[in-house]
Amino acid sequence: MAPTMTDKSKVLIFDTTLRDGEQSPGATMTHDEKLEIAELLDEMGVDVIEAGFPIASIGDFEAVSEIAKRSKNSVICGLARAKMPDIDRAWEAVQHAAKPRIHTFIGTSPLHRAIPDLSMDEMAQVIHDTVSHARNLCDDVQWSPMDATRTEHDYLCRVIEIAIKAGATTINIPDTVGYTAPRESADLIKMLIERVPGADEIIFATHCHNDLGMATANSLAAVEAGARQIECTINGLGERAGNTALEEVVMAMKVRHDIMPYDTGIDTTKIMNLSRRVAQVSGFAVQFNKAIVGKNAFLHESGIHQDGVLKNVETFEIMKPADIGLNEANIAMGKHSGRAALRAKLNDLGYELGDNQLKDVFVRFKALADRKKEIYDDDLIALMTDSAANTDSDYLQVKWLRVVCGSDGQEAELKMLVDGQEKSCKSEGDGPVDAVFKCVKEIYPTEAKLKLYQVHAVTEGTDAQATVSVRMEEDGRIVTGSASDTDTILASVKAYVGALNRLRVRSQKTAPDADVKSVSYKL
Ligand code: KIV
Ligand code: ZN
Repeated sequence: MAPTMTDKSKVLIFDTTLRDGEQSPGATMTHDEKLEIAELLDEMGVDVIEAGFPIASIGDFEAVSEIAKRSKNSVICGLARAKMPDIDRAWEAVQHAAKPRIHTFIGTSPLHRAIPDLSMDEMAQVIHDTVSHARNLCDDVQWSPMDATRTEHDYLCRVIEIAIKAGATTINIPDTVGYTAPRESADLIKMLIERVPGADEIIFATHCHNDLGMATANSLAAVEAGARQIECTINGLGERAGNTALEEVVMAMKVRHDIMPYDTGIDTTKIMNLSRRVAQVSGFAVQFNKAIVGKNAFLHESGIHQDGVLKNVETFEIMKPADIGLNEANIAMGKHSGRAALRAKLNDLGYELGDNQLKDVFVRFKALADRKKEIYDDDLIALMTDSAANTDSDYLQVKWLRVVCGSDGQEAELKMLVDGQEKSCKSEGDGPVDAVFKCVKEIYPTEAKLKLYQVHAVTEGTDAQATVSVRMEEDGRIVTGSASDTDTILASVKAYVGALNRLRVRSQKTAPDADVKSVSYKL
């Protein structure tokens, strides 16, 4: 059944990290990563999880149906264009959920109507037919007029009325290109509630993109005007400047409940862990000064601020780090820390490990502790990401590396396993990273292009680990790889090889005719 709103102060949180977020170039997640993120979202109390776009690829379909099967409390939603095969495929994937939803959409603004070259009347008919079809399959149907904020008001009212009569239970109002502003966002929802017959029987949702940096403000303004579902992603992940950030709208309504008296079912103490996991698996690092989840969001650097916080924390903090699950006691671990301490610490950071996994991570932890005196939370998080990204069952594995570099030139020697077979190579390069990447290319020739290479220090100090992220592209498929090590060159080659492994898996999983993502909005 579709959620109904008896409690007018409740705002539903619809998370689309796995669909709109994952659509962002390079943010591709593996099947297992999607399942893990969906489980964390469900546990956090997200009302609706948009798990993917089932017709886009076999991988998307499989992920959505598995997430549907495993779902506990959240509604599981699959996206579909205004086409019968899309809707059927979405239903095929979500039908296993205890609470399934089909979300179908069509671009209604003049610019979007021109693409399929439909007249207003023809499009109205398509909307009627596709929403009715979806409703015959599923009780819970969401419909979106894409680019609603640039659609003529009369036409928007007309098609929304058609969608409601055809059985839509949620009407989503997308600001697809992040064009609106808070007052206009509120006025639009208000106008629709006043003018559209049947508006009081459905839930209006707001779906904002952040092109002008106003997505959070626009979403909250829509809620004040009567929208009761916010569509958002963790860390604001999404195409271009991203979507509304879940953590921002949820914490805004919590911290300023005095002026925004709306409740969500979100357990905010799970926000930080989810933010970290999404950053890791998507390869999109969170900017340091990002609201709520940025590394600096709770740091006080200036003397006046530090002094004030020591005397009364409320002088410069409007929320507590613990509210978002940020562990204040960042106590360092070291080579004398035992397995039980490691398990407890990882539990605190949101990782629950089975005995075998713990054994493996403990070996890596000890190896790191031999090289680095103090191991902080961020080191452990990097270690966990590394263990998930590079495993002993990978097709390509880095076995041994030696690099000579200095003012006289750079040379690398690398041993790798390719499908279990040891191969080695020596190469010179324009810098140590270039030399070692040339070795990889010689051992494993590939057409894949390196699109991005970036290095972040995990903690402070010269013995800090470096996290290296790479983004690679081959035949339109984009993947990221990341790895951490106190040796930046070793982290670089592991990240590079990790991305190659992902490209290989993706090319095996993508059906030849399934490249729908690149044309996802065309009808
Ligand atoms: O931004 C958008 O318009 C969308 C739709 C598919 C809802 O993501
Ligand atoms: Zn969107």
